Amino acid sequence: MPLNRRTLIAASLSITFVLAPLTSVFAASPAPAKGEHGMVVTAQHLASEVGIEVLKKGGNAVDAAVAVGYALAVVYPNAGNIGGGGFMTIRFKDGKSTFLDFRERAPLAATKTMYLDKDGNPVKGASLDGYLAVGVPGSVAGFEMAREKYGKLSRQDLMAPAIGYAKDGFILNQGDAASFAGSADRLAKDPAAAAIFLKPDGKPYGVGERLVQPDLAASLAAISEKGTDAFYKGAIADAIVKASGAKGGILAKPDFEQYAVRELKPVTCTYRGYEITSSPPPSSGGIIICEILNVLEGYPLSYLGAGSAETVHVMVEAMRYAYVDRNSALGDPDFVDNPVSKLLDKAYAKDIRDKIDPFRAGVSQDLMPKGFGESKETTHYSIIDDAGNAVAVTYTLNGSFGAGVVADGTGILLNNEMDDFTQKPGVPNLYGLVQGEANAIQPKKTPLSSMSPTVVAKDGKPFMVIGSPGGSRIITITLEAIINVIDHGMNIQEAIDAPRIHHQWLPDKVYVEPFGLSPDTEKLLAGMGYHLDLADQTWGQAAGILVGGKSLAEIEKGGGARYNGAIDSRAASGEALGY
Ligand code: GLY
Repeated sequence: MPLNRRTLIAASLSITFVLAPLTSVFAASPAPAKGEHGMVVTAQHLASEVGIEVLKKGGNAVDAAVAVGYALAVVYPNAGNIGGGGFMTIRFKDGKSTFLDFRERAPLAATKTMYLDKDGNPVKGASLDGYLAVGVPGSVAGFEMAREKYGKLSRQDLMAPAIGYAKDGFILNQGDAASFAGSADRLAKDPAAAAIFLKPDGKPYGVGERLVQPDLAASLAAISEKGTDAFYKGAIADAIVKASGAKGGILAKPDFEQYAVRELKPVTCTYRGYEITSSPPPSSGGIIICEILNVLEGYPLSYLGAGSAETVHVMVEAMRYAYVDRNSALGDPDFVDNPVSKLLDKAYAKDIRDKIDPFRAGVSQDLMPKGFGESKETTHYSIIDDAGNAVAVTYTLNGSFGAGVVADGTGILLNNEMDDFTQKPGVPNLYGLVQGEANAIQPKKTPLSSMSPTVVAKDGKPFMVIGSPGGSRIITITLEAIINVIDHGMNIQEAIDAPRIHHQWLPDKVYVEPFGLSPDTEKLLAGMGYHLDLADQTWGQAAGILVGGKSLAEIEKGGGARYNGAIDSRAASGEALGY
């Protein structure tokens, strides 16, 4: 267990007041879910149940991840999808790992300037709303490759629960209803989307009401029966191409026919003896998490304490340097020579540490360009099975409900992932990301992502499965959950719930979740030269699993549950389920 100021105080308190167990004294969150054979953590409780049932009937973690992916497309339509794309990090029970990139690709007719007007200025909304915003979806191909290569169960078995929820419907809880209410105006603009997600009177479905999606059920049934061809070569692709052509898009049949999943080597690094396995380009996530961890490894975070001015200072400075690299140097590996080994080099991290003034905030303008962003409209799930196979999946439509369009008869919401490209160097996208040439639009190219599905191992065994939605904050959310467990001794639920900070070069501000810092810590940081932005809302929705105990202390003592799961307790419809 890390020896920090808090544990030292805890130890003295426990000597003085032997009144209550330390766990209850210090629990800052609900207890994590426990399981001995498997754990599934997703943003929607029905999808978690689907995953657990797959594990119980003999499927492995990859099978469960595929079934959950399809289920979320039905019961969590703001981010779950078959009309978008994502990443799957797999760490097998033998310690080997792999990474599936099924993120969207730019259509063949895409051009670098496709979102600019004749004067070279971005056309408002062009990369966000409607068919021109849509990248070629990858989720169906990704799930099918995962199942065929690494799963054990049939496609029909894994898709049946999703088809059932689409055909028979499901009852909305508070979290589900809130997501529909928040996007009602946008969904109303597309008649096919409105017909599914809004009631005949135009109002969104409310708590206790049933959402039935017959067209989506038919599309899923066709995929279940015929496989990926039903999506990429058959009636579904035809319907999407037809709607795209009629409504200003550029998608063509060859875009679908040529879509291919990439199986890539994950990014790996070590942090204080833990082995991190995460997303490689076209995600920036794994590299930037590792770069920040490499810098932080040189500081005694555990002693400095969670949320202290000294800890926040070094975290922010590490983030500042790493996000400059993210926004200027990284892109699709088929198009860009990413400086992966340089950014992962511990010597490079030391160079960064040497530039950090121990007493003063850095100045972003003194570094290279780049930007800032937030999206809650992605989703992450974490799964581990009885054999110890661990799967982390983050997938997305980009914005909530993607481009807000559904091709008639398909029931499939389409993404607006094209907005993750650089529209024009120096001009921010929806979430304020200001990016460079490495991420410029080219046909068949994949936009740079921040999604960071991550597995941490210790001594050759899985230790933690973690990831989150949150746009460019995905990286810092995932990073902070790891640090909270390893350095600050929090249990997995506390690590996920703990208020976060975020910095990403520009704007030169430290974003702080509500109650993230005490007023005197805020004053100390302001005195060092930091500009704090005290947010009135939380961000992200991390979903994680810790193996061998709920916290490092419990793991070290032995006797904890084998699997301990947690979803951000502020997430209204998510659930961690173990068995
Ligand atoms: N669309 C969010 C991401 O991929 O980072």
